[in-house]
Amino acid sequence: MSLTSTYTLNDGNKIPVVGFGTWRTPDGEIAKHAVLKALEAGYRHIDTAAAYHNEGSVGVAIAESGIAREELYITTKLANPVGTYEGAVQAIDESLRALDTEYIDLYLIHWPTPITYREYWEKRNADCWQAMEEAVVAGKIKSIGVSNFLPHHLEKLFETATIQPAVNQIYLNPSDQQVELVAFNKANDILSEAYSPLGTGNILEIKELQSLAESHHKSIAQIVLRWSLQKGFLPLPKSVTDSRIVENSLLFDFELSEAEMTQIDQLQGAAASALNPDEVSF
Ligand code: A2P
Repeated sequence: MSLTSTYTLNDGNKIPVVGFGTWRTPDGEIAKHAVLKALEAGYRHIDTAAAYHNEGSVGVAIAESGIAREELYITTKLANPVGTYEGAVQAIDESLRALDTEYIDLYLIHWPTPITYREYWEKRNADCWQAMEEAVVAGKIKSIGVSNFLPHHLEKLFETATIQPAVNQIYLNPSDQQVELVAFNKANDILSEAYSPLGTGNILEIKELQSLAESHHKSIAQIVLRWSLQKGFLPLPKSVTDSRIVENSLLFDFELSEAEMTQIDQLQGAAASALNPDEVSF
């Protein structure tokens, strides 16, 4: 396995097994530099979102890298304020423009129940999904999926969807393994992508991981990302630090034993956990 190894999605498209995360990466020089560093380190899968306000910088970095578009995999997401078919059509075109690309590899509904639509989120998601399906047919998007969806949100979407979601991108790390949700995704042939695979950094504070890291001559971050891969997840580590961007890519020259995997499984609840999408104020 390497950074360019792929999972095959339920629509037949292939997706690189690790993505470079950009949530909370400031727009401008910082985002551009981080993405260029990641591409230089060998990442070929970049994860952004309209809500991160850095699609433009991702687009600039991609253009400056000189890497052929077909060698790259770009994910972006439909922002929470968008709630209609027409709004989604427009949002997709805006992301294409911001990223300066002819197509998006993977486009996700970012959140199942934005506060504005909490009373009629089912219709909002169904309408936006229709626009996403049409964008697939038009060649603007290759694959479509969701993010932060729980089983009841997915069940509703299944009722109207013609194209089934390929991916559910969720907060997923040893401290919150969302076991039931992951099982639901798997049962429906939906790939679980792991955002905040390092728990936005707080996983690195878990003392039990230190000796495991030392025994493999790896960092705690590398151990946790390797755990995510061996679970069959698709980790999306974020960093704006050159050395960490490289470090987080060096995951393929060691393996965790079954006993070590079990040891990490036992860290459920050791740090922060996922937000409940139906209860947040955004
Ligand atoms: P920074 O971006 O300043 O380098 P997550 O991917 O779970 O959201 O975690 C991202 C956070 O973890 C960021 O604060 C990032 O800091 C930090 N981080 C990313 N990779 C590493 C690493 N290898 N070692 C230590 N901290 C890291």
